[in-house]
Amino acid sequence: MATTLQLPFEQAHPLQAAPLLRQLQVQGPIHRIRTAVGHQAWLVTGYEQVRRLLDDDRLGRSHPDPGSAARTGESALFGGPLGNYETEQADHARMRALLQPHFSPRRMRALRPRVEALCAGLLDHLTGQEPPTDLLPALALPLPIAVICELLGVPYEDRAKFRAWTQAAADMGDRSRSERGLSELFGYGQQLVARKRLRPGDDVISRLCATEGVSDDEAATMGMFLLFAGHETTVVAIGMGALLLLANRAQWQALQAEPGLIPGAVEEILRAQGTGGGGIPRYAHADLDIAGATIHAGELVLLDTGAANHDPAIFPDPGRFEVARQAAHHLTFGQGARYCIGAALARIELQTVFTQLIKRFPAMRLAVPVAEMQFNADVVTGGLAQLPVTW
Ligand code: HEM
Repeated sequence: MATTLQLPFEQAHPLQAAPLLRQLQVQGPIHRIRTAVGHQAWLVTGYEQVRRLLDDDRLGRSHPDPGSAARTGESALFGGPLGNYETEQADHARMRALLQPHFSPRRMRALRPRVEALCAGLLDHLTGQEPPTDLLPALALPLPIAVICELLGVPYEDRAKFRAWTQAAADMGDRSRSERGLSELFGYGQQLVARKRLRPGDDVISRLCATEGVSDDEAATMGMFLLFAGHETTVVAIGMGALLLLANRAQWQALQAEPGLIPGAVEEILRAQGTGGGGIPRYAHADLDIAGATIHAGELVLLDTGAANHDPAIFPDPGRFEVARQAAHHLTFGQGARYCIGAALARIELQTVFTQLIKRFPAMRLAVPVAEMQFNADVVTGGLAQLPVTW
């Protein structure tokens, strides 16, 4: 390959894949690139390859020599290798076994009425406001935060504190800010665990504490990981979903006319929301051949789920946002052994939001043009910085 391409790729439109990424996808499914901090990596953009590699145990999050590993950014949590190379698979299996019972389909279904009530309360409040307003602080942020707080038993009043730490921990540009955020978050988790040991509640952190063999630090780490994973991604998906629907009026109207389309629309939102040019980082734990390229053990591989979700061989005319599209095989929640534990909960939240929002605010529209929307550049989860709407 003649030149090495540098991330991030320049985007011409916030809701469309970068032109360079589209060209790359025409050339093939795997590409040599440099990350935003200049390190060499492979970017996998083909749907079939991303899907297969997400569930390939020859790739992992750990690295045998973490200090020399290529990085995607400065975040202490997402920028480089994570976990212990020798024990990663056993550690991961243990984490999933401990968490999965708390996210069973039955438990998640039981949460739906509460999610609906929380969403209705936020929209009641929005009804009383003078438009225009920012839909992020009004709805996209508080709903996932309230839901995860109730589920985990984290006090909702602490949200400004823990959100500042999770945002800092995810900062891809400033390692010391990220490390401080992570350590504050962990300290907060330890305090919570100490309180739950004294006065257990009916919540996931209390139940983890009560599980045989789970130490205080392990309960704190898992609790804080869930607090992070359980809200930041969902906030982004609600914001991007509202933007996609409001920017494509005919699609909003289709849902207004036929609310039965909403579960499918949520899958299309999840597919369309990320346009690629990054992805889930893994390290090769062995040499492997992918579509004619040889990845060597130790190299960084970015599994670009956003690009995969825009692979025209799988999703024809991928730049078109269409709520009636059959898109549930998107890779936004990953695939296989690490498939998102909270996917069912995220789906309930998204379905609830769009069912209620469209019904109660049928005339809602964007208060500024899509091209002027501001996005979070330095945060790993990305997403909108603001979503001004009127009605
Ligand atoms: C729209 C919202 C969400 C998106 C897009 C999302 C996306 C993802 C993805 C892509 C993975 C796989 C990462 C990998 O392969 O390394 C993942 C894993 C995970 N997610 Fe989610 N997630 C969302 C919501 C949630 C929620 C609400 C929770 C919890 C309440 C959650 C908890 C987790 C956990 C614990 C894992 C780790 C699974 C493992 O490593 O085996 N997520 N998520």
